[in-house]
Amino acid sequence: MKRSLINRVIREAEELMAKHSFLLPPFGRYSLADWKNCNKANCQEIFDLGLGWDVTGFGKEDFFNYGLLLFTIRNGKAGSDIYTKPYAEKIMVVREEQVTLCHFHWHKQEDIINRGGGNLVIELSASDPATNSIKGGKFEITVDGEKRVMNSGDKLILTPGESVTLLPCHAHSFWAEKGSGTVLAGEVSMVNDDSTDNCFVLEKEALRFDPIEEDEEPYRLLCSEYSKWL
Ligand SMILES: [Fe+2]
Repeated sequence: MKRSLINRVIREAEELMAKHSFLLPPFGRYSLADWKNCNKANCQEIFDLGLGWDVTGFGKEDFFNYGLLLFTIRNGKAGSDIYTKPYAEKIMVVREEQVTLCHFHWHKQEDIINRGGGNLVIELSASDPATNSIKGGKFEITVDGEKRVMNSGDKLILTPGESVTLLPCHAHSFWAEKGSGTVLAGEVSMVNDDSTDNCFVLEKEALRFDPIEEDEEPYRLLCSEYSKWL
């Protein structure tokens, strides 16, 4: 993915968050110079847990059709004595018909929340973590505390304010509904490890972190590249 595209979509995400009065922590506004001048020892938690900006095209080089912008606000680390938070929070920008590839998590239970903008379409399937495949059949989810029975392949639509609780075995793919506008989506979950806990069920070659082609200076650093730049 080109750095100029990453810079552009982060700037657009900042505009969308401002429109919805969603404020990021100060390190979300750090420039490369700010990072270089900060007390890095005091920021070790940010580096170790991969907090901050995250732009992925799942390795497909087609960001506006297959991609997602995220910002990890807080996180912990499974098994760590230092980072003991058992929870994580992200904010995400999901564009109309921009697909996050179908995946499940072996460990993470998560709530996905429509925090404003358009309607979020979530296609859900029962998965089998033992075989890393879609199992099919009926299963139960909760939408804001209300039980709902789904068939594998059903689409759930979350309008602004609504949220769904997904268990690790619930494979999910999502995008913003065409014509409804970009969605500002939240995620509140158990600790998150994007390097080991995403199983892309249908596209096993999908990349969670894309290689970056440096065609201009970074506007913001991504959570996956602090060690490269600092
Ligand atoms: Fe997920």
